[in-house]
Amino acid sequence: MKAFLVLLALLPLGVAYYKLESAIDPIKMLYSYTGIGAICLLLLSLFPSSCKRICGVNLLRYRKTIGLLSFLYVLLHVSVFVILDSEFDFVTIFEKSLKKPFIYVGAIAFIILLFMALTSFKKLFAKFSKYHKAVYVALALALLHSFWAQKVAGVFEYSVVAIGVALLGERIWAWRALHVKLF
Ligand code: HEM
Repeated sequence: MKAFLVLLALLPLGVAYYKLESAIDPIKMLYSYTGIGAICLLLLSLFPSSCKRICGVNLLRYRKTIGLLSFLYVLLHVSVFVILDSEFDFVTIFEKSLKKPFIYVGAIAFIILLFMALTSFKKLFAKFSKYHKAVYVALALALLHSFWAQKVAGVFEYSVVAIGVALLGERIWAWRALHVKLF
């Protein structure tokens, strides 16, 4: 099942590779495929916990795989910016970021997700798992970044934000319910 999940998640990359030659703006296309892939998988990685709380179905064994797949997309997305779009020119990177402040927001989300990916393996996870709650901050920043990056937002962009807000809201609700019970 995990192998199927990985194949399914990597499918858009295959499509992007296939469409690359005929694309009018290949870099823009790569930003979209990797950015949308990253945010969708990030949302999906939060789904198993909500699913367990709401309907009792345990899909938690897929959470790490989905999270790492999301990070792979984020890494490719950032590589499009640094390697293809800015050609490793740090002055260009700085100038582009000044013109488009949503890039800073994405960069903070990236740092959080990088930390989580690096500490998601056995020994380090035991030590750092409590900091993995930072995924909620990363999601909020990633949602802001991807919405801000749009010139015109459509149904898809609003739906992504709505799903993100619903997942974050469910967490806050569950957290409140637990603390009201304790006190
Ligand atoms: C250092 C970190 C990041 C950089 C430099 C960056 C850069 C960019 C840039 C330049 C765009 C605009 C592309 C265009 O011209 O259309 C963009 C869009 C986008 N980014 Fe990022 N990003 C970063 C992090 C993230 C993260 C962490 C996520 C999600 C988890 C993300 C998701 C998106 C999405 C969904 C879009 C809109 C794509 C579209 O609809 O075309 N980005 N990003």
